[in-house]
Amino acid sequence: MDIKIRIEKACKTFGEGSITALQEVCLDIGSNEFVTFVGASGCGKSTLLRCIAGLETLSSGSIKVDGTPISGPGVDRAMVFQHYSLYPWLTVMDNIKFTRQLQINLEDITSADVEAASGRADALIDLMGLNHVKNSYPNQLSGGMQQRVAIARALLPRPQILLMDEPFGALDAQTREVMHDMILHVSKLEKTTIVFVTHDVEEAIYLGQRVVVMAPRPGRIDSICPVNLPAQRNQDMKLSAEFMQQKKAILTRIRETAGVHTDLELLARMTKPADNN
Ligand SMILES: Nc1ncnc2c1ncn2[C@@H]1O[C@H](COP(=O)(O)OP(=O)(O)OP(=O)(O)O)[C@@H](O)[C@H]1O
Ligand SMILES: [Mg+2]
Repeated sequence: MDIKIRIEKACKTFGEGSITALQEVCLDIGSNEFVTFVGASGCGKSTLLRCIAGLETLSSGSIKVDGTPISGPGVDRAMVFQHYSLYPWLTVMDNIKFTRQLQINLEDITSADVEAASGRADALIDLMGLNHVKNSYPNQLSGGMQQRVAIARALLPRPQILLMDEPFGALDAQTREVMHDMILHVSKLEKTTIVFVTHDVEEAIYLGQRVVVMAPRPGRIDSICPVNLPAQRNQDMKLSAEFMQQKKAILTRIRETAGVHTDLELLARMTKPADNN
């Protein structure tokens, strides 16, 4: 495997060491790999993603991209969040190009570079099926379309790594399926390495070449599950016995790492009257 991201003994604590969000996380992620992360709430998925993005610094350990330790955010990495965070006063096209235009003032970027980015913005608009809405404003679009705009914007500078934190969490099930096939297509076409966090185990298996299960308190990697599905996914695969079996195994693992065996047990804990002793 041609290693793109090497995470070595990554530790991150908050609250003067009282919260261990990441404890000795070690993982190699390959070039053009699509790796998905699942795990109980609070197990450090977002923290890990933010550390790879360079938005947080590790307490100890290292994260390297192409062998170089990361020291902050960079154009080689782009992040997409659950909430689309588009600029409401700009059209779809201007939203996609906006960051590039801003960079003119900050970096050594000329207006010729911006012109070139314009051509790429057109190509991304085509790729995302946004042609018919490119002059619309975000509030005129559905959630799925807004997220496509956010993805196109992230892809504009040709990042080598796309970091996605529950990007489809706010979408309905049907729209999510469409987005799954779209993002798989994008990852093949753009040859981007994708690190994708989700709460949806089915989504994690369908998209991932490997599913990393994380465990909480302290946040750590519990297990890594290779996905044995044909590279060319189709929605019917979700109905196969192997898929269901893997889904069940991962769900069980997540529940066990959270110390909860059934949802009812969790509910019982949450509704248990406070102990006065
Ligand atoms: N800025 C911060 N300050 C203090 N504690 C933090 C901060 N960010 C995260 N944490 C803590 O670190 C732990 C991991 O949080 P993180 O957001 O990474 O979990 P997560 O796996 O993404 O959870 P979820 O599935 O709910 O999004 C949690 O205990 C959280 O409270
Ligand atoms: Mg999170």
